[in-house]
Amino acid sequence: VAVLGLGRIGSAVADLLASGACAPHLEATIAGALVRSADGRRATTPFPICTEPLAIFDARPDVVIEVLGGLEPARTVVLEALSRGIPVVTANKTLIATYGDELFAAATRFGTPLRCEAAVVAGVPFLGTFAARPLAASVDRVTAILNGTSNFVLSRVDGGVAFEEALADARRLGYAEPDPSKDVDGSDAAEKLAILVRHFARLSIRPSGIAAESIENVGPDEMRAARALGGRIKPVAVAEWSSPDLGCFAGPAFLPEDDLLGGLGGVLNGVRLERRGSAAIHLIGPGAGPEVTARAVLDDVVEALGGRQQVGVGALPRASVGPPASQGYFVTLRATSLPDAVDVADLLAAHGVWIRRWDALQAHPDGELRAFLTFPCLPDELLMALRALAAASACAATSRPIVEARRD
Ligand code: HSE
Repeated sequence: VAVLGLGRIGSAVADLLASGACAPHLEATIAGALVRSADGRRATTPFPICTEPLAIFDARPDVVIEVLGGLEPARTVVLEALSRGIPVVTANKTLIATYGDELFAAATRFGTPLRCEAAVVAGVPFLGTFAARPLAASVDRVTAILNGTSNFVLSRVDGGVAFEEALADARRLGYAEPDPSKDVDGSDAAEKLAILVRHFARLSIRPSGIAAESIENVGPDEMRAARALGGRIKPVAVAEWSSPDLGCFAGPAFLPEDDLLGGLGGVLNGVRLERRGSAAIHLIGPGAGPEVTARAVLDDVVEALGGRQQVGVGALPRASVGPPASQGYFVTLRATSLPDAVDVADLLAAHGVWIRRWDALQAHPDGELRAFLTFPCLPDELLMALRALAAASACAATSRPIVEARRD
């Protein structure tokens, strides 16, 4: 195999191969590796290293493993490998989310496997399974925790750890992206969601078209208020579709405490697949970490050498993305002195927002805090209602969508 990138995942792939742990399923050696800068590593690695992207083909690999991350030179080298009939395995969600149409079209045109199981929930091998089982894969809603770092960080914040400390731990453990702002601001989850939309809805979307929200301002007081109202704040990604509409969201959301995804802590990821009239399917496991990702990559190498395609489809119809249907909102109000609940309820109702449950008033370092759940309403109705409330009573509000499994 040729390995593109010797960062934490590429190094874990090399270590796993060197450890002999892959035998007897996979007898592979590294024929060469592409790195951005050799930095004296040529003397320390037991395989040839190059820095010129297309020079990797001099090693005559049977499979190319792409774990460079980012778009270029990954896209160019992957297209070149596919055109040469060399199967490609990638863990690069940015690449697949951005150029999935072009890459899978090339894989189909050249009849060459392209596999990306490690790109989404690396520790749970489900993309390949559902690609081979179209009836089970015929769902119309995906709800998921797709980013291990943000789940790890929010779980630690819930346990009283400061945000920066929790994020530093996630980086040390190899969960976070080289640029951890992608974990924090929801864009990593949005890229993975775009891949799931491609896989299950058969639609092509731009990850940047998905409304993504940061977890950065979710604090322990908001977590406590969510618990008091029977839920948890989790970094959630949702996509639902029914022709011609597609609704997506990635960011912190309120999950009821009996929700299987709501109970997932640490670096765990989870995916719920729903189809109207059927019981939901839940897939749960680790979503990040060098070793878990390396195992998924090397299992994909075994699959690719068996000739199996990941998806086997080329370019898909482009879809535009709106918000998912509202299931209501979890709203937290803070002010030096909050208005009466009845007055808040009246003002919100005048904008079409109806409160379904209040939490008790709490003391807050800057005054008072109170949270409530609403019935479903339009995002704009909530926005206008909270603006009117801020104007009338100088209180600051944060809102998170409520995300629940369908009960039908
Ligand atoms: N940074 C990603 C995460 C790595 O935390 O989920 C796995 O894609």
